[in-house]
Amino acid sequence: MKIIAIANQKGGVGKTTTAVNLGHALAEKDQSILIVDLDPQGNATSALGMQELESENLYEALLGDESIVDKILPTRIERLFLVPANLDLAGVEVEIARMSDHLTRLSKTLSILRDDQTFDFILLDCPPSLGILMTNALAAADELLTPIQCEYFALEGLVKIVRVVEQVRGSGANDQLEIGGIVMTMFDGRTNLSGQVVADVREHFAGKVYRTVVPRTVRLSEAPSFGKTILEYDSGGAGAYAYRALAREFLKRHSSPTRLPG
Ligand SMILES: Nc1ncnc2c1ncn2[C@@H]1O[C@H](COP(=O)(O)OP(=O)(O)O)[C@@H](O)[C@H]1O
Ligand SMILES: [Mg+2]
Repeated sequence: MKIIAIANQKGGVGKTTTAVNLGHALAEKDQSILIVDLDPQGNATSALGMQELESENLYEALLGDESIVDKILPTRIERLFLVPANLDLAGVEVEIARMSDHLTRLSKTLSILRDDQTFDFILLDCPPSLGILMTNALAAADELLTPIQCEYFALEGLVKIVRVVEQVRGSGANDQLEIGGIVMTMFDGRTNLSGQVVADVREHFAGKVYRTVVPRTVRLSEAPSFGKTILEYDSGGAGAYAYRALAREFLKRHSSPTRLPG
């Protein structure tokens, strides 16, 4: 089992879109997937059409009052599970900040799932700010998957993330953390800019960057308003194609057996 933080301190780069659609594409490939919505905005929760269950969030589990196991909900999609989020989660930051182990609360909350190996991958859909929730995600994760929008300043954003990863390692909260992958999103084939940005990022982060590039499509932006993943909403379209390709590449990178005992 691997815990993947889908993280970028910038908002609107495709974190939630990637969590939900990569999650579905991996489930389609027989993987057991848990998406943990860590953003008080609850976008992953509503993108899966589950906002009416949003009160079943991580709050009590993070404080140690309840087990995360009781917060895991099945989705419509086979093998895809969700721990929802809503605005309550914003309040937990204040509560956690008072605790001596405030950096590792999420890691401890998830440890039961590490032990029982029910899931192949846990995808943490991180909030955009570098607050306590995101820091907890980085402390709990085996690696980062960082979506980068094909826009100006993509490289500057990545350099900041690299620095954050180094800080988390240096803090002792998680000395194993690494950037496992970078996925370029919202690629617009009609502009030179998109191509140039992808080329720049590849030049600096060669092996990290996924070959699959997610195109900008209206369908991908429409799907969440119907509470559907792109694989449900437009299964034959370019967005679904890209996220299925990303899932294949992701599994190839993580091809070591994940279900071995211990
Ligand atoms: N490839 C894409 N093409 C078009 N729109 C996209 C694409 N990826 C994301 N979006 C839209 O862009 C906005 C931001 O994406 P989102 O995944 O919510 O970013 P984040 O979670 O990083 O804030 C959302 O409205 C989403 O539907
Ligand atoms: Mg988001």
